[in-house]
Amino acid sequence: MDHFQYQNGELFAEQVPLSKVASKVSTPCYVYARATLERHWHAFDQAIGAYPHLVCYAVKANSNLAIINVLARLGSGFDIVSGGELQRVIEAGGDPSKTVFSGVCKQPWEMRAALEAGVRCFNIESVGELETLSAVAAELGKVAPVSVRINPDVDAQTHPYISTGLHNNKFGLPVDRALPVYLQAQQDPNIEVSGVACHIGSQLTELGPYNEALGKVLDFIEVLAEQGVEIQHIDFGGGLGIRYHDETPPSPADYWSILHKQLQSRNISIPITIEPGRAIVGNAGVLLTEVNFLKSTESTHFCIVDAGMNDLIRPALYDAYQEIVQVSQRTDVEEKSYNVVGPICESGDFLGKSRSLSVRSGDLLAVRSAGAYGAVMASNYNARPRPAEVMVDGDQIHLIRQRESLQKLYEGESVLPS
Ligand code: LLP
Repeated sequence: MDHFQYQNGELFAEQVPLSKVASKVSTPCYVYARATLERHWHAFDQAIGAYPHLVCYAVKANSNLAIINVLARLGSGFDIVSGGELQRVIEAGGDPSKTVFSGVCKQPWEMRAALEAGVRCFNIESVGELETLSAVAAELGKVAPVSVRINPDVDAQTHPYISTGLHNNKFGLPVDRALPVYLQAQQDPNIEVSGVACHIGSQLTELGPYNEALGKVLDFIEVLAEQGVEIQHIDFGGGLGIRYHDETPPSPADYWSILHKQLQSRNISIPITIEPGRAIVGNAGVLLTEVNFLKSTESTHFCIVDAGMNDLIRPALYDAYQEIVQVSQRTDVEEKSYNVVGPICESGDFLGKSRSLSVRSGDLLAVRSAGAYGAVMASNYNARPRPAEVMVDGDQIHLIRQRESLQKLYEGESVLPS
């Protein structure tokens, strides 16, 4: 249930026809449904129920202030990977003490900002990072709470670019290398050992890899305990997949039930943090675009739209499938199989291939499942302003990000003196 439904042949976001959003804001434009966002966050929170936990929305999936703010109002925590994301969380009313800081290459200024804000935990990924953090904490007279991110060498069975838990990925540390880092951290007066972190990849559609990874994390926690290192929380990352096409991803309830079973069977009740991004916001958004031109060659029908790979890069970058639907269903035009392409000067600029559509120039299309890794990965390639963003709430349309002006695109640039 994602609150993008047809009513009399017209696609709505909650109670608002998407055609109304397009006429108000123009295209291309991202549209989010608040009710979906909230529903998905609650699905995780309620699934975990009474077990001590914190759902930390992964800000990288969509960092618009309005999205962060809606989730902050629900009591969400946040998973951040940069000083920029930290600032967004603070600006949007998120609670730094419910914020975990992930990422392989945190800069000293980012560590400083996070320590000053009082983040819940730094998930560190190398000895060098631990030592830098220790030095920054010492400078500020603070003690930095730390988890080491474990790389459990588990195949997440997802796209290679977004698989992170294999031994040859740059992420985390294998358990045998993590142990000495914990022992070093334990001795460091500027560091407080807080947890163990693990994130094996994104868009997982099977539970097996999660179960295997949790097993390795729990084994490692036992090893740590034998060495006198007490763990206060397990950060199990994000990654639960969504349905883009014909996937059948597990629900948050299925996900939790398999993890809980293993925790129970080992008699473990250490608080858990999870970092879902895509599963919360992915299906809470669409990219609205207008059909500008139709053209056919001997081999291919092209549906040329005003959104390109600069607006939504997932199809070009990962060959990702995202459903493309008509905003107004019509039967008065012949259905054809189109390659839906954008205005960018690259043949990789497509939103979808071989899609059956009955369209005319001027019609609106919605690229579904675009709430996660859509707007945040948009660029100004070809000097195109990034799209506007809108949040629908019931029958209300809120502009949550203006379309960029052309002038803004070269703000900060300058020509050489004459
Ligand atoms: N935690 C950590 C440490 C992560 O690296 C990520 C995602 C998440 C949580 C959230 O994962 P999610 O629940 O959203 O799957 N641009 C790619 C996805 C990159 C994901 C990177 N890390 C895409 O469009 O598919």
